[in-house]
Amino acid sequence: MSYSFYIKVYGCQMNDYDGQRIEDILVLNGFIKENNPLNADIVIFYTCNIREKAVHKLESTIGMIKSNKTKVIAVGGCVAQAEKDNIFKRIPRVNLSFGPSTYHKLPEYLNDLLHGKKKRIIDLNNYRLEKFDISNKRKEVTTSAYVAIQEGCDNFCTYCVVPYTRGREYSRPVIDVINEVKYLVANGAKEIVLGGQNVNSYHGEAPYITIGSNRKTWRIEELIKAISTIDGIKRLRYLTSHPKDFTVELMKVHNEVPMLVPFVHIPVQSGSDKILKLMNRNHTAREYLDKLKLFRDICPDIQFSSDFIVGFPGETEEDFNDTLKLVEEAKYTLSFYFKYSVRPNTPAAKMTNQIDEKIKEERLAKLIKALLKDQVYYNNELVGTTQEILITKKGKRKNQYIGKNVYMQSVIINSNENIIDQFKTTLIESASENCVFGKLLD
Ligand code: SAH
Ligand code: SF4
Ligand code: F3S
Repeated sequence: MSYSFYIKVYGCQMNDYDGQRIEDILVLNGFIKENNPLNADIVIFYTCNIREKAVHKLESTIGMIKSNKTKVIAVGGCVAQAEKDNIFKRIPRVNLSFGPSTYHKLPEYLNDLLHGKKKRIIDLNNYRLEKFDISNKRKEVTTSAYVAIQEGCDNFCTYCVVPYTRGREYSRPVIDVINEVKYLVANGAKEIVLGGQNVNSYHGEAPYITIGSNRKTWRIEELIKAISTIDGIKRLRYLTSHPKDFTVELMKVHNEVPMLVPFVHIPVQSGSDKILKLMNRNHTAREYLDKLKLFRDICPDIQFSSDFIVGFPGETEEDFNDTLKLVEEAKYTLSFYFKYSVRPNTPAAKMTNQIDEKIKEERLAKLIKALLKDQVYYNNELVGTTQEILITKKGKRKNQYIGKNVYMQSVIINSNENIIDQFKTTLIESASENCVFGKLLD
């Protein structure tokens, strides 16, 4: 008998990647994917713990699953890792809890539960590389394909749960990454996204030792150069980068590798040196801005995006103004912004001078206004230019499609045919705050 499963994935691109691998491994083991949780034997939530109330929300979502069909409710990923045994106390209907490095074991665990061999299973081990063994067996390959090259984080920013949920940083061996990229390209991928929590501290096992050198690992720039020799890749990206690990060598690779997009995500979080220190980011605002300047000197067409946190404990009006000043100088094409969210067991949660929610909201609104000013500027700059875009999804209106250009800006176009997953040349005709509008040229 075949059992059906429903999966809902929250969180970052690493979670999306894991979620797809979970689908692959279950389908390859005879389970059937189901889109309605009420019709599924197995309901899986693959969770994110980065901001608050994750367990609360999960509890109410699971509460809504009232179906006689449900045999297993599984919670996986970062919430499972952070909650440990508590997950069973807080949501008693959960009978399987699995951490982000254990999903290759799911078929075995699900069979044990479905056949009554066990009533409850929890696995929070870090099997590290083992989970990637299934990465070259996929049920489908998308045109834009994400490849995890590194996982975990050793930076311990004082607000962040990732070092506790994803564990210590480790890099996949170069040969494993290359084989996965080759497999993806052979099966139709054209855009490759090299991903991880901190990709520019990548140090994967070298495929060979270069004569005259005893280095046993490769850095990300060496990995990128090797990947760029694989035929068939049209676009290459990497994310996320930590400012302190961003090297001149990596900047230079952008000039050497034509398919590497001129767009980099380098989150800064705050423009105040005091706050950056309290966050344990290991750089000052000036050091960060100097890196952007150097990068622009080396690659004049490079553009940047960033993440921001407003209302970190102890952030004064003056600190916040420093963030606005940094935004003005940095000139981002795209940004992501968050109100500081207290995460239990992180150092910042214990800081006494927490900021009032109302102040956080006011600061967030001001920050968004400043960031949109640059975004609108860059969107307007595109009007009249020709852009190659990768169509990623359907738009809201009939015959409307949304694609991304090399700067990850959303381009909206009309087409009578389904053009999802194709690269298309477009002429940009007008711009708005969050996107630009174009017409197809080919
Ligand atoms: N490794 C990446 C980011 C991972 S988390 C980096 O260091 O850049 C993605 C973003 O979530 C972070 O950049 C940060 O802006 C935000 N974030 C993380 N913890 C947060 C918290 N406790 N409250 C609000 N935002 C947070
Ligand atoms: Fe979190 Fe900082 Fe690591 Fe990013 S670098 S994952 S923000 S601890
Ligand atoms: Fe969330 Fe875990 Fe990613 S906490 S942001 S899913 S690493």
